[in-house]
Amino acid sequence: MNQCRICDGGLQQFLDLGEQPLSDAFRDPADESPEFTYPLTVGACTDCGMVQLMQEVPRERMFHHDYPFRTATSAFMRQHFEDFARRMLATELTGDSPFIVEIGCNDGTMLRTIASAGVRHLGVDPAVGAVEDAAADGIRVRADFFEESTAADIRATDGPADVVYAANTICHIPYLDSIFQGLTQLLKPTGVFIFEDPYLGDIVRLGSYDQIYDEHYYLFSAHSVAQAAQRFGFALVDVERLGVHGGEVRYTVARSGARTPTPAVSALLAEEAAQRLHDWETLKNFAQVVEQRRDGLVEVLRKLRQEGRSVAGYGATAKSATVLNYCGITSDLLPQIYDITPAKQHKVTPGSHIPVLPFPESVQDYPEYFLLFAWNHATEITAKETAFHEAGGKWIRYVPEVRID
Ligand code: TYD
Ligand code: ZN
Repeated sequence: MNQCRICDGGLQQFLDLGEQPLSDAFRDPADESPEFTYPLTVGACTDCGMVQLMQEVPRERMFHHDYPFRTATSAFMRQHFEDFARRMLATELTGDSPFIVEIGCNDGTMLRTIASAGVRHLGVDPAVGAVEDAAADGIRVRADFFEESTAADIRATDGPADVVYAANTICHIPYLDSIFQGLTQLLKPTGVFIFEDPYLGDIVRLGSYDQIYDEHYYLFSAHSVAQAAQRFGFALVDVERLGVHGGEVRYTVARSGARTPTPAVSALLAEEAAQRLHDWETLKNFAQVVEQRRDGLVEVLRKLRQEGRSVAGYGATAKSATVLNYCGITSDLLPQIYDITPAKQHKVTPGSHIPVLPFPESVQDYPEYFLLFAWNHATEITAKETAFHEAGGKWIRYVPEVRID
């Protein structure tokens, strides 16, 4: 039995999503070199409850110069991060020469607002290409992984931080112990560590198994985050449910005793207990839903192919790698996927080798059906694509159920 990355407990496997490629490793179509794969299996700690991958992919394989994801591709997410930055400027960052550090700053979407306000900041991210985009916008960045030594170095150069923030990043980092040890040095005594990531409660409720891939090492809950924080001398002092990215929680963590936990913390812990979120039965049931969801989607795609319908993917998300490779979907069922990210276009998807193309200029050239891989951006996308739908185009979804509408 593998050991939990957080505590001394053992990991019990409840889900096997098969052999998978790196979710963001879009390939040159001519590239015939062997592709790195790993077994994607998920377990829960029998002690602290933390849900985590059974196998770790070396971080340098995932986060490097050519990491293709850019936060700014979603207008909705740009607004989300601007709202957060404004809130920080009005609350945590009002003291004398305040300082905020963002772990996983990507293209600087959040820090842009902070920088414009003239507030001291630093973005840390190993995705050099993304960080260069941020730097070009006048944002102060460091192209690096964040771990204990990075935190100590920042503290020595810039002094302590009021806020350390991370969005869709902490769940990517197996070595949480090093992160917390770094925070012990970097945060002011009353400083806060705020991070938002996909929420286990939503993943189980929606059956959104595509939230599970190499980069999402942890699937957090209030319960497991509270346990982890406590282990490293911190406490969970606030939680906020977020609608973004298919359901997330924004956790606020402070040094033990530094802040009084809000009622939202006990409320979410109670909700998780009432739903038996961490029960073995709940997790095994989720694994069954995942199998049914796979069979349902493949059936729909096969039927549409038999009927001679045109189908394409919408959004070459990292999440789509799990769906395509777990369901065994290749270009015979799904000839192409459209995506607005330049770095993904004219490449093929990892493992399944489906071509990724820029969207056709005209809706007339759209397929009859779009398989919505970027379902977490559904509101933004369906609003943008009303002409497609009005012309009779249909959406195929697989979260929270397989359906066509
Ligand atoms: P996202 O779901 O944000 O993340 P992940 O890759 O972690 O699963 O990725 C959204 C992808 O969809 C990204 O490659 C950009 C693309 N996209 C579009 O092509 N059009 C759009 O309107 C939006 C919002 C995203
Ligand atoms: Zn544990």
